[in-house]
Amino acid sequence: MAEKNDFTGLKLSEEVTNRLKEEFPTLIALATTPPDEVVRRCEINRRSAETAVLKARKLIGMSEPITAAELLQQRLIKPHLTTSSQQLDEILGGGIHVGALTEFSGSFSTGKTQLAFQLCINVQLSVEEGGLDGTALFIDTENTFSPARVAEMAYPFTKDPSLFLKKIFVSRAYNTDHQIQIVSKADKLIEKNEVRLIIVDSMASHFRAEFPGKDNLPRRQQTLMSHAEDLQRLSEAFELAVVTTNQILGNPDSLFTGESNLSPALGFAWGHRPTHRILLRKSRGTARIARIFDSPELAEREAVFHITSQGIRDGPPLDY
Ligand code: GTP
Ligand code: MG
Repeated sequence: MAEKNDFTGLKLSEEVTNRLKEEFPTLIALATTPPDEVVRRCEINRRSAETAVLKARKLIGMSEPITAAELLQQRLIKPHLTTSSQQLDEILGGGIHVGALTEFSGSFSTGKTQLAFQLCINVQLSVEEGGLDGTALFIDTENTFSPARVAEMAYPFTKDPSLFLKKIFVSRAYNTDHQIQIVSKADKLIEKNEVRLIIVDSMASHFRAEFPGKDNLPRRQQTLMSHAEDLQRLSEAFELAVVTTNQILGNPDSLFTGESNLSPALGFAWGHRPTHRILLRKSRGTARIARIFDSPELAEREAVFHITSQGIRDGPPLDY
């Protein structure tokens, strides 16, 4: 397989090669990008972009299918990112998966942001400790990122939490356009800083505010889909975990019939994008219940975790 950064293997003109290298840190990043986007980002003609993408795919061995057995082998050796709750890790099949999108949805105070903070700490741990030996990119759409709270969660691992804070890149996204731009320009930051986790907290807020009502639905879905594709591409191209949070849409009947009538926001089209979807709900005190509700490989199970002063932890089982 070709060296991941060896663009000379593409055998294109020096000018085109240089433009590609400026935009794409690795061949896999180029190979997984739609040619139209390569045209836009590199300002080269469509034919050169198509050739570059095709050649990159060939060089890294992406053009041929692999067997399911090989795929299983590849998946088995991929590490998982711990949530700091063994129960939650267990229903997730070992923790958060790399190369996939995982969504946590729930109403307010169900622990979505707290979980996201915990993952930003845990991703920095070694693989033996349940981490991914990397850094985190936190895309904050609601202005709720709290360095002080993240530092509190780092204390169990270090006397100097700033060491952990230095490895969390926080991008405050002010609107959908900004949110999309941060993701589509993330390649270089990811490669340079060994980002192994991208958080989008929350995926829904700007999209819902900027595209309200049925009339805006087609435009919202289209923008959202292309954003989701960018995230999926990054997760596979850089073997990293993407975790998004989502709000819950209430059905007034659910007040009488329970949580089952609540559903994550952003509709059906978005619903197919995350690989694993987890619903969070409140229980007594610090306890929260997580339920897998849509995953191609995880059973619909529930786990209990607690939000403690030190972060996400297991607690006594609930007698529910
Ligand atoms: P929204 O963003 O409003 O939709 O909610 P969320 O699901 O992101 O909730 P979040 O993760 O912010 O969880 C809030 C809950 O975490 C609060 O109800 C607190 O119980 C708990 N929490 C937040 N900060 C602390 C803290 O410093 N110490 C402790 N022990 N608990 C905290
Ligand atoms: Mg939140």
